[in-house]
Amino acid sequence: VEDHKWEDPLPRPGTLTPASRKGQTDRYEIELTEFTQTVLPSSLGKTTTLWGYEGTYPAGTIEARPGRSVEVEYINNLPSDHLLSVDERVHGAGQGAPAVRTVTHLHGGVAAPEDDGYPEAWISSGGQTAGDIASVPNSEVPYKNPKEYPNDQKPGTLWYHDHALGITRLNVYAGLAGFYLLRDPMENALPSEQYEIPVLFQDRTFESNGDLFYPPGDNDEYEAEFAGDIPVVNGKVYPYLEVEPRSYRFRFLNGSNNRTFNLRFYNEDTDSYSDVPLMQQIGVDLGFLDEVVEVGPGGTVGPEGPIDSMLLSGAERADVVVDFSGYEGTTFTVKNNAEFPYAGENSGPDLDSIGEMLQIRVTDSTSNRGNDVNLDGFLNGVNGKYQEPETNPSGITRTFTLDSAVFTVESGDFEGDELDSHFLDLALWEDDDAIVNPTLGTSEVWELYNTTGDSHPIHLHLVDFEVLERESFTWDDEAGYQDAAQAFIDGETTTRPDISNYVTPSEAPTLPNPNNRFHKDTVLVNPQEVVRIRPDFTGFTGLYPWHCHILEHEDQEMMLPYEVVSPE
Ligand code: C2O
Ligand code: CU
Repeated sequence: VEDHKWEDPLPRPGTLTPASRKGQTDRYEIELTEFTQTVLPSSLGKTTTLWGYEGTYPAGTIEARPGRSVEVEYINNLPSDHLLSVDERVHGAGQGAPAVRTVTHLHGGVAAPEDDGYPEAWISSGGQTAGDIASVPNSEVPYKNPKEYPNDQKPGTLWYHDHALGITRLNVYAGLAGFYLLRDPMENALPSEQYEIPVLFQDRTFESNGDLFYPPGDNDEYEAEFAGDIPVVNGKVYPYLEVEPRSYRFRFLNGSNNRTFNLRFYNEDTDSYSDVPLMQQIGVDLGFLDEVVEVGPGGTVGPEGPIDSMLLSGAERADVVVDFSGYEGTTFTVKNNAEFPYAGENSGPDLDSIGEMLQIRVTDSTSNRGNDVNLDGFLNGVNGKYQEPETNPSGITRTFTLDSAVFTVESGDFEGDELDSHFLDLALWEDDDAIVNPTLGTSEVWELYNTTGDSHPIHLHLVDFEVLERESFTWDDEAGYQDAAQAFIDGETTTRPDISNYVTPSEAPTLPNPNNRFHKDTVLVNPQEVVRIRPDFTGFTGLYPWHCHILEHEDQEMMLPYEVVSPE
């Protein structure tokens, strides 16, 4: 593969067509199937068996606009055997649950719990739901199809992907992901149509026959930290993109299971990281920035320092405009220097990095220079159209820990197996007492203490949050905490260790950089760091998951429900 870089053009995801448009609703029927596609460089002559929505990987894009709802009927026509090997020791994947189960989540969407994609509200390829199988715990959120997305929210770069309990990492790795662009008509002023390109960054490992490799879940080493070794961008290994010397809009999404990417342009003609166009960032996960943030050499300097690269952890999005004029005939490479597993500043040597993701070739001329858009003016205009939903501060601050510990399987065929696992607040998905109850219409402060050695992208469904600050801490008694945490997981004690007894925060919190502060649904929390966020609980009451977006961690135990309750 390394000898076949930059042979094939970057595929552009197609746009799905509604089966009908009625009143204020676009209705889609989306079939989930198995198919083959040429993911590897085509000169290798190999195809890859994949799963996808409507027969492509990545899926076609759903185009939506605020105020107009979308209804999707998802039709699970996948085979009854899983494409990858299912580890039945993982919660939700054993106990007689069918191997192939799917439930689609609209990441970033504000939807009712039964429309959101609750992990237990799956349907099997045989048409069974959790309630149909006696040995499987029934879902507290009912299975529902079609799903309704009101789109009663501001514009943003959303995406849809599978979320079935215990096999999300496998279903997404197999290909079940696509963009959902919630777009305001004012965005037509930005580079659009062929000049707007969604870019899904992922990684995969391949078998020699071209099929996907994923570690089998039948050894003692649970695949706690698996990542692919080859970059796959929009479903293609090492693609190139030809652009004209003019402005483009890119919707970057890190849709990998586990990797964080830290992206920079590199000028191949002058061997330089500095002789490159800036990424003019206009949007993040769930909305537009207040003003443009310039990402690249000499870019904006934020409270966390100069923003000279685009750091995207799993599920994070960046909406950027890049002007290639003046670079006629130049070749750039989009390089990554985030290693795996990513651990922020504390990361070790670059042992296992995918260094190059995508090549960009600028043509010699353009027939369409495009209009010069005043991006700050655009942001002013579009932001003026959308009011943030009003919430009252509840005064509640909740403290959670992000942990790693050994989980011992308690019953069944694998009783006694020890799995390296990750946890939120040392709780299990099934622990009802771990469910917190924010009140609809309020905001809270959530403190996320990372006690592990890796960084974790933490995602809350339903909400839009502000990242208030990040603060490092030092351990007073790390071993004591880890022992107490393990004892709690093992059920040897019913007292959850109180993190404040084991650490000292620096008392010098930093504000996040301006492209990592507002309109977020996912935030990266580095080791020995507490990140404070302020979620606004609006839209719906009911049960929603929050979890680490490292999908291996999510499938372990790093996911909990929370329940928005109505004010009494
Ligand atoms: Cu992108 Cu709970 O997911
Ligand atoms: Cu994690």
